[in-house]
Amino acid sequence: MSRITDLLRLEHPIVQGPFGGGLSSVALAAAVSNAGGLGSFGAQHLAPKELTATIRALHAATDRAFNVNLWVSTHDVPEDDYDGWDQAAAKLRPLYDELGVPAPARPRPAAHAFTPLVEALIAARPPVFSFVYGVPPAPVLEACRAAGIVTVGTAITVEEAVALDQAGVDAIVASGFEAGGHRVAFLRAAEDSLIGTLALVPAVVDAVGAPVIAAGGIADRRQVQAALALGAEAVQVGSAFLATRQSAAHPLHREQLAHGRRTTRLTKALSGRLARGLETAITTREAVAPFPYQSALMRPIIAAAYEQGRTDLIGFWAGQSTPLVRPDRDAVELLHDLSPA
Ligand SMILES: Cc1cc2nc3c(=O)[nH]c(=O)nc-3n(C[C@H](O)[C@H](O)[C@H](O)COP(=O)(O)O)c2cc1C
Repeated sequence: MSRITDLLRLEHPIVQGPFGGGLSSVALAAAVSNAGGLGSFGAQHLAPKELTATIRALHAATDRAFNVNLWVSTHDVPEDDYDGWDQAAAKLRPLYDELGVPAPARPRPAAHAFTPLVEALIAARPPVFSFVYGVPPAPVLEACRAAGIVTVGTAITVEEAVALDQAGVDAIVASGFEAGGHRVAFLRAAEDSLIGTLALVPAVVDAVGAPVIAAGGIADRRQVQAALALGAEAVQVGSAFLATRQSAAHPLHREQLAHGRRTTRLTKALSGRLARGLETAITTREAVAPFPYQSALMRPIIAAAYEQGRTDLIGFWAGQSTPLVRPDRDAVELLHDLSPA
């Protein structure tokens, strides 16, 4: 037992990591929660009304604790200050032409700003709210506390963990640079915040009072036990759950995760922010726009690449432990295999 399993009444100290960008599913989160882990839903890409409906669906699918995740910082350049869209789209013109898709229109105004989303989230009362890319304003954390919502911040450096601890979050995910997906830095540049899970977790455990959830490169029981030995009170597993049958990831992505014993790479080419995925040709390119514009510019390219089977032009988010990921597994089976008990 740990403070986290006690607080959330979990049978296993295992969090299924949230996936933004449409890769989370109610089915996966509910399966994990119903089996005694903590299921999560990454909601960063939703509009407020969609978020409300999703939390309603999660409440209907499980009576147990589940987690909904948002990004605190949603723009690297304020929307009104960014005027590089047309130039950036022109740089990608050869790719649009090659795939036979039109360049997208600039998304505007920001549909996914943090404030309206977190207001919708608090009103819908998920049992747990986790977040990345910052510390929410104090009134948001106070409103969560008043609503009985457990808050979980994410740190990729000790300094970030201390900032979250001082803000009074209930738990802290310490995410090492092995992790799949974005490097969610908020105090220093992501490139200057690259610490491995083995080094980060015990340093964070020593520096904060809140319980710590270890993340990054954890895909089997040996690694879960190692993370707990380092002082973590639970672990968060992403890529291995993303490859399960209940995941919303495209079948090709799931297959690549399980069979792609390839190198992963940190790249800004897919979203404008540094993130880890399997190395493909597209991940070796430079970003032509800041976040979130790079994401919007790449979306039609990736969609067409999936349709046309152009794996070289797809970014398959994945952590460094993909060699341990097994194909086509049931999420509950994976949860039991991960569980240290
Ligand atoms: C496709 C993908 C999307 C992700 N999106 C989010 C997100 O929106 N919010 C978040 O807190 N973590 C996100 N993560 C991180 C995972 O929740 C988890 O912490 C991470 O995958 C752990 O590393 P692992 O993949 O090595 O297990 C994402 C990871 C992946 C692979």
